Amino acid sequence: MAEKNKFYITTPIYYVNASPHIGHSYTNIAADTLARHMRRVLGKENTWFLTGTDEHGQKIERAAEKQGLTPGQFVDRVVVQFRDLWDKLNISYNDFIRTTEDRHIKTVQRSLEILYKNGDIYEGKYEGWYCTPDETFWLESQAPDKLCPDCRRPLEEIKEINYFLNLQKYQSWLIEYIKNNPLFIRPENRRNEILSFLTLNKLSPLCISRPKERLSWGIPLSFSASHVTYVWFDALINYISAVGEFDANDKYHSRWWGEDSRVVHLIGKDILRHHAVYWPIMLKALGIRMPDTIFAHGWWMLGEGKMSKSRGNVVNPLDMVDKYGIDTYRYFLLREVPFGLDGNFSEDSIIKRFNADLANDLGNLIYRTLNMVEKYFQGKIPQHDIFSRRYDAAGEEIKNILDFPASQRASFSRDINSSLSAESDFNFSLAFESIWRRISMANKYIEESKPWNLAKENKIDELSAFLGLMIEVISQVGRQIESFMPYTADLIKEQLGEKEIKKGKPLFPRIENKETDT
Ligand code: ME8
Ligand code: MG
Repeated sequence: MAEKNKFYITTPIYYVNASPHIGHSYTNIAADTLARHMRRVLGKENTWFLTGTDEHGQKIERAAEKQGLTPGQFVDRVVVQFRDLWDKLNISYNDFIRTTEDRHIKTVQRSLEILYKNGDIYEGKYEGWYCTPDETFWLESQAPDKLCPDCRRPLEEIKEINYFLNLQKYQSWLIEYIKNNPLFIRPENRRNEILSFLTLNKLSPLCISRPKERLSWGIPLSFSASHVTYVWFDALINYISAVGEFDANDKYHSRWWGEDSRVVHLIGKDILRHHAVYWPIMLKALGIRMPDTIFAHGWWMLGEGKMSKSRGNVVNPLDMVDKYGIDTYRYFLLREVPFGLDGNFSEDSIIKRFNADLANDLGNLIYRTLNMVEKYFQGKIPQHDIFSRRYDAAGEEIKNILDFPASQRASFSRDINSSLSAESDFNFSLAFESIWRRISMANKYIEESKPWNLAKENKIDELSAFLGLMIEVISQVGRQIESFMPYTADLIKEQLGEKEIKKGKPLFPRIENKETDT
């Protein structure tokens, strides 16, 4: 097998029927952190990070109508909110795909044609029950009383021509594929969920079209004038339409989807089945290799329920960033909940995390160290070969955890590197724990060795070795948090300077919070 020296990471493309909320920002912050990390491991030119927006379908058509806009006008407005938010949050995507772009439409139509030509897509009759006010299909078994299970209004019987993708043809192949590729669907509980769904159910054909009379805001099928593409078929294709093309022989080519590339889809667990069942079958039928990993993370909840547009219980990420800062927000989301599990969102827990980990641990380590450098060495960083010196046990322990040579491109520690791998389920909180272990160790070392006494006793050599070591710890911590908190990493670099520190304000001044402090 080819060596994977490229990395291609994607996020879901979000519906633009409403503004982005914390849930959307979560996936993008996680993807951004992985992309930044992989750029350091593999080099900038070998990493590609794609995000974007899902702009077709009924939801969007209706939201536009409500505002008296055409769907096109409407999506052009909302997409700006997504782009602005990603800029604000330092999301370093390489490409932003919109499903209304020509490059995408072209690839969707081509994919449909290939599948139609090969007989994987065929014409059939759709018979079922339809709630017209809700515009939702129901199976007879879901609505035995012929009333809409959601709104209890009477259902209409529908018989219409549609196009279907034969999923069953690939079902046993997919089961085997998942069994043979343990990293394909992550984390493990999601993998098991999909495996048991596939082994217990016979897949029914997936209806991949909608009659134009019911929905006009979609990509037209080239083999039927009266249909547009079902929005999920349209959306999933974004992962290949953004980075490659089909040639005249229906073979797909892409710099980022070759055998030498590790392809990772980051999604929320709400859209696991689309990604772990429909998408692999679409790819298989198109003769395109599988992604390496589909990782479904958990949900941010607010109160009892999932934070979501349709429930209306959303928090605006911009408000949180204005209040607590970009990196506190990034840190909180990735640190608070192990990646893959659900979490409860509250400002109280942001404040607790901030005060304990950022103000106390990291902020304090930097502030006290820089204070001492200022006080005892007039701001000049003691130039001492910290590795030549013997320290007491605690000092030796700290010395041992430092990465050397520090100049090496991938000089961040191995434990962080392995925590962020697919094998470890992209365990951001574990990576943070190992960085914070270093911070706590250093803080403890300061308290125990009381460097201010060294100053009083005029032990300048020892003091300068000690502070040199602390500066090295801080500078390495700064590099280690770079992918997670890029802005803070820059500030630390700035404050440390080359030879002389530039002590600014404390990076993380404590937040006084009545509820958490009493
Ligand atoms: O499903 N907690 O778009 P969408 C965590 N267009 N993550 C959340 C979340 C929450 N409460 N709410 C949303 C769609 N997300 C389709 C995707 S992809 C080919 C098409 C995040 O706007 C999470 O990543 O409903 C989830 O999967 C995604 O937003 C759904 O966004
Ligand atoms: Mg959704």
